[in-house]
Amino acid sequence: MEQELDNLRTLAKEQLAAVTNSNQLEDFRIRFLGRKGQFSSIMKDLGQVPKEDKPRLGQMANSVKKEIEALYGEKQQALAPVAGGMVGDSDEIDLTLPGRRPQTGKLHPVTQIMNEVCSIFESLGFSVAEGPDVEHDHYNFEALNIPAHHPARDMHDTFYVSDSILLRTHTSPMQARIMEKQQPPLRVIAPGKVYRCDSDITHTPMFHQVEGFLVDRDVSFADLKGVLTIFTQKMFEKDLDLRFRPSFFPFTEPSAEVDIACVICDGAGCRVCKRTGWLEILGAGMIDPEVFKMVGYNPEVYSGFAFGLGIERIAMLKYGIDDIRLYYENDLRFLSQF
Ligand code: DAH
Repeated sequence: MEQELDNLRTLAKEQLAAVTNSNQLEDFRIRFLGRKGQFSSIMKDLGQVPKEDKPRLGQMANSVKKEIEALYGEKQQALAPVAGGMVGDSDEIDLTLPGRRPQTGKLHPVTQIMNEVCSIFESLGFSVAEGPDVEHDHYNFEALNIPAHHPARDMHDTFYVSDSILLRTHTSPMQARIMEKQQPPLRVIAPGKVYRCDSDITHTPMFHQVEGFLVDRDVSFADLKGVLTIFTQKMFEKDLDLRFRPSFFPFTEPSAEVDIACVICDGAGCRVCKRTGWLEILGAGMIDPEVFKMVGYNPEVYSGFAFGLGIERIAMLKYGIDDIRLYYENDLRFLSQF
């Protein structure tokens, strides 16, 4: 067996020296180092040698194998430029093919829309504020006129961290955070991530919202309508009709859900708008006097409006995407289209 291992080593060296391309090298690997190769077949005999010789022969076999592997590795390195097409050889690459450009990174479509929304409101004089994703029950609910056991809490499918700490379910807590620190006049938008225990083709457990609010003397619903009209026209690059439907939110009174004329069919009725001609894009209203009282503003003096919109939804409408989960599957074929 010693002799066989010795011979194998010599033979391997000789044959490897004659290898000039990667096909031959692969042949060599299979013949010498492969599962059914020469080395393996010698190793099978190791079972039959006398017990006292086993350790010595085992060690020798190991060192022969390592030696052949090392030589194989060196050869592989030496041949690398050939595989790259430097030398005229059977496995060279066609150098006349155009090269592949390195792909540049792009902003995620949600980030792009977020930036766009923010810059539209900034052009209207709003400033941008960000707050924590992990929020106190107080700001997420209490300060927005949603006390414990209020039925509106059921709509939020909240992820709780503890009894009083949670992942914010909307960006509205930023109204209370900012108003308790600053005096009117205020014009603020607050973009960010929000979380709800919900997942299907129109819901993901994490999504993005932008909250906006304006507080001053003599602010009216007409101001809200004006701001949202300008926003939707700029966002969808069309003179879209808006529709305000009466609704309820504990932190606004009156409240509305706002629809835009369907961007796909211009209001004629199609599959996307479910034949209604309208698409819901946000919730809004006049800030409830109770919310003002909790931050120490006098509701007899100040009034204001607020609105909250979902970024994923806007991007879905703008680009005609029908499954919200696509944003978060990280499939580059999808993401690189934006
Ligand atoms: N926070 C609400 C939600 O996530 C959206 C909303 C509705 C925000 C009306 C507002 C508002 O500021 O006035 O469902």
